[in-house]
Amino acid sequence: MGEGSVVGVGLIGFGTIGTGVVKVLAENADVISERLGFSLKLVRVADLDTETDRGVSLDGVVFDSNASGLIHDPAVDIVIELVGGYDIAKRFILEAISAGKHVVTANKALLALHGKEIFKAADAQGVDVLFEAAVGGGIPILRSLREGLAANHIQSVVGILNGTTNFVLTEMERCGEPFEVVLKRAQELGYAEADPTFDVDGIDAAHKLALLTGMAFGAELTFEDIPTEGIRNLAPIDMEIAGELGFRIKLLGIARAHRGAGGEERIEARIHPTMVPISSMLANVDAAMNAVEVRGDAVGPTLYYGAGAGEMPTASAVVADLMEIAREKQRGGAGPVSPLSYRPEALAQKSLVSLGEVRGRSYVRFSAVDRPGCLAGIAAALAEEGVGIESLVQRSTGAGLADVPVIVVTHPAEDHALRRALANIDASGAVTATSVALRIEEEL
Ligand code: HSE
Repeated sequence: MGEGSVVGVGLIGFGTIGTGVVKVLAENADVISERLGFSLKLVRVADLDTETDRGVSLDGVVFDSNASGLIHDPAVDIVIELVGGYDIAKRFILEAISAGKHVVTANKALLALHGKEIFKAADAQGVDVLFEAAVGGGIPILRSLREGLAANHIQSVVGILNGTTNFVLTEMERCGEPFEVVLKRAQELGYAEADPTFDVDGIDAAHKLALLTGMAFGAELTFEDIPTEGIRNLAPIDMEIAGELGFRIKLLGIARAHRGAGGEERIEARIHPTMVPISSMLANVDAAMNAVEVRGDAVGPTLYYGAGAGEMPTASAVVADLMEIAREKQRGGAGPVSPLSYRPEALAQKSLVSLGEVRGRSYVRFSAVDRPGCLAGIAAALAEEGVGIESLVQRSTGAGLADVPVIVVTHPAEDHALRRALANIDASGAVTATSVALRIEEEL
């Protein structure tokens, strides 16, 4: 690259996002070349399915199932990996890197697990690996952290990182319907996958938070280090009471830097359904949208909002990465862009703040047995762990039911104390189902 007036692009994986990339490159070729001063040319596409009509023109583009041929094609300067998954995608990316090709990927699952190995290989080869589309779809959140906020010590990154769960939570609140009913509708409408595990159990959000945490704090961690809880246990009554208390429930990814007096840094990172003040900006992000709030020591709070998924928003992010790589290389930029914003030698395994240490108020819903003394037993078990009750509501569900929802809002307490109390209560016979606890996030 560097001499010609065209940069060659090869695309592996011609699914929904790949089709979007072909569309953006074709439909926005004018603005892309006006901004770059040269053209991005799609020269080759590889996919196992070469039959399906994607409704886009591939005139002049080699289209076959030979991914390795694409990677080693001298006309291809940048390889886009949109295959997804772990093994094959990793093999393609490492093969492209060792062939000296720059890589653009949307594969958050792979990078959140094997990012270190991939970034190390890219650094050794002097090639770029960019992945804007992996977090927040079309929202330029990684570029904002890497460039726009680069002068800051980042203090926190808090976001709604998964559109599927945000859609389900919004609909549960709007219609008062149970999780399973809303999930089924989300699947019918195409908002949720047939196997929704990654989304509803918070794993997809944890993949994204692992990448954000690396970008924000230079912390080397994988998504497996992040305590993760999904939304399956929530019920419409939780949304109803949250509203009465002045909150909405969102599945949040929360990452914060804790800097000690001696300069040592520990990182807090967690994914769980959270009560957020109704007046906060994140509380008002509805349906399948994503939003991330980043606080920096110089800039203060900043907010990024947009479509976290979908063909064209995600393609917008992929093509922006292509443009960044192409622009840098055309200018003769020395060395690769640091994929996690920090130079590789500055990345470190930082100690993590455990979830048990996190202190705050919580909302707890007990399915209490309707008999005298039951409430007193719950209060005593909380008191035994030093967890104070700020307010308590008992919701009558009508006559004849064996249990009644009892909602407690606690005073600020350390998470491990509350969890110990809940384990005791759940084992005590005072409740008929596992208690549901939601952390209340005040700092928004
Ligand atoms: N499944 C993701 C979501 C989209 O629901 O947000 C891709 O990251």
